[in-house]
Amino acid sequence: MRVGWNSDIMAVLRRAGILDIGDVPVMQPLSGGVSSDIWRVEAHGKSYCVKRALAKLKVTADWRAPIERNNYEAAYMAVVDSLVPGAALPLIYADRAAAALVTRYLDPKAYRLWKTDLMEGRVDRAIAKTVGERLGRIHQRTANDSAIAERFRSDAIFHAIRLEPYLLAAAEAQPMVAGPLRALARRTASIRRTLVHGDVSPKNILIGRLGPVFIDAECAWYGDPAFDPGFVLNHLCLKALHRREDARALGETFMALGNAYLGHVDWEPRADLEARIASLLPGLMLARIDGKSPVEYLNTNKEKADVRDFAFHYLTEPPSRLSALREAWFDGLS
Ligand SMILES: Nc1ncnc2c1ncn2[C@@H]1O[C@H](COP(=O)(O)OP(=O)(O)O)[C@@H](O)[C@H]1O
Ligand SMILES: [Mg+2]
Repeated sequence: MRVGWNSDIMAVLRRAGILDIGDVPVMQPLSGGVSSDIWRVEAHGKSYCVKRALAKLKVTADWRAPIERNNYEAAYMAVVDSLVPGAALPLIYADRAAAALVTRYLDPKAYRLWKTDLMEGRVDRAIAKTVGERLGRIHQRTANDSAIAERFRSDAIFHAIRLEPYLLAAAEAQPMVAGPLRALARRTASIRRTLVHGDVSPKNILIGRLGPVFIDAECAWYGDPAFDPGFVLNHLCLKALHRREDARALGETFMALGNAYLGHVDWEPRADLEARIASLLPGLMLARIDGKSPVEYLNTNKEKADVRDFAFHYLTEPPSRLSALREAWFDGLS
């Protein structure tokens, strides 16, 4: 392991009681994140991961996010670990002042990123089903819970790092559909029903022997459950354009995840929630082309035009069923 050094991270580990004065651990920065310093640290025979929020994200567009988001990530881990064991990493230590948290480091030999699988053509419906189930269970266990709602009053952060850079930035870029995009942002912001992870992207899902583990819950918020399944299903939609040879399998995966998720919905009419997810999806698709955080793998004008055409149509005529989107998008690609 390459040896690195970071005195802020060392200070967090000392406060956590993991390092003694004079201990010199082996530490290595982890790449992949855009918003935090993340280090793998070996100390006293154990492997830790320390994540400290940065005030400015390492992406091109100027996009600042308050570092308190790290505290919400820590709270998400604590709540989810107790309600749905295995679905989040157990929190070892949260350092509010430093906006840092400590967890176990998950060995890549036992845990792989779902994104890597999908990008390399390993499209497994069974895994998608477990992702939908675990997400559904988290929402079900936190629905209409005033204590949890009180703990995650992160509406301002959610607006700053989700609604604004995605839906509202896309509305600025595409005036023709600004009305429906702004309406989606308003609707999302107005619903407070379950604990929402806020960044359920395949690069924030580690697949282990006991199922998927959701990491990186910095956008955690008590709000509209539709956002989470919408966010992850959007990734499956966009990946199908990038890997057309997998479009059919990704379409099946889309339905497997969506149906597994909807199977847990008992806090509101299932059809209502499905309709919110289906109508949000075209907005999220467009947001990853014309918002502040475009996906890195769709670069050609043709690909961008395909997403825009589709999104424009379905933003103006919102679908209410996931199966309608599956037919219109995935079947058209395969
Ligand atoms: N506890 C962990 N064990 C193993 N790998 C991790 C762990 N936490 C993060 N990673 C790796 O680091 C990457 C970035 O971490 P993440 O929490 O998603 O930060 P960011 O907010 O910067 O995206 C993840 O995609 C994952 O590959
Ligand atoms: Mg991440």
